[in-house]
Amino acid sequence: MKIGIVGGTGPAGRGLALRLASVGYEIEIGSRSSGRAAEIVDELIEEWGDRGYQLKGVSNEEAALAEMVVLATPWDSCAPTAKALKKQLSGKLVICMANALARVGNEFHALYPPRGSIAADVQAAIPGSRVSMAFQHLPAKELGEIDTPMEGDVLVCADEQSAIDETIEIVNKMDNLRGLDCGSLANAAPVEAFTAVLLQLNKLYKTRSSVSIIGLE
Ligand SMILES: NC(=O)c1ccc[n+]([C@@H]2O[C@H](COP(=O)([O-])OP(=O)(O)OC[C@H]3O[C@@H](n4cnc5c(N)ncnc54)[C@H](OP(=O)(O)O)[C@@H]3O)[C@@H](O)[C@H]2O)c1
Repeated sequence: MKIGIVGGTGPAGRGLALRLASVGYEIEIGSRSSGRAAEIVDELIEEWGDRGYQLKGVSNEEAALAEMVVLATPWDSCAPTAKALKKQLSGKLVICMANALARVGNEFHALYPPRGSIAADVQAAIPGSRVSMAFQHLPAKELGEIDTPMEGDVLVCADEQSAIDETIEIVNKMDNLRGLDCGSLANAAPVEAFTAVLLQLNKLYKTRSSVSIIGLE
């Protein structure tokens, strides 16, 4: 299964790329510059050694041709970027991992886009695709430390059940992570916004917090 990561050259996209490649996915890291994407892949191989992972650096347009696509650009460019790739993304699962945050004094505060969440904005920009929301609460640094399993729950929302199920299947391939069906994109706003709370906890308690839901089988 090939997964393209649009905007995959940033810390979050790179970390997710490594983590997904480590469990057997073929990954294409996309960028507005294919040269930059190729450099990032070289850097990752230099840092982690050649482990036989299937990692390639390509343009965003090429990454969007993969069977499934993750959007890993900054939040305010997610919908415009998706719209520009509408044709390539048509009919596909598109996973949005963005958080809309603003630094206010010493804190990060959540911002609310017009439709309440970035994922809902992306779905509106590409109505012919199946958009899900996931990975908001996984810190990029830990994602990229592939020799250490991550722990926690990954909250997943989408308007189509197939998009939720396919996203959860990807999450559950990664050791110790559990994907949870959190309903439609109407619930994406509080999930995205909760990242601000986690960042605040990290700062105050000098830790890396994550989300774990109790009471589920
Ligand atoms: N950092 C985390 O711990 C974390 C964790 C979970 C989720 N997230 C979310 O994941 C997303 C990526 O996070 P990040 O920290 O990796 O972000 P980032 O470094 O700011 O951006 C990721 C990549 O997006 C591309 N990009 C930048 N501006 C763009 C624009 N105007 N239009 C299109 N592409 C643009 C850049 O790639 P090129 O220049 O190569 O095109 C950049 O390397 C964000 O939405 C963030 O909220 C982050």
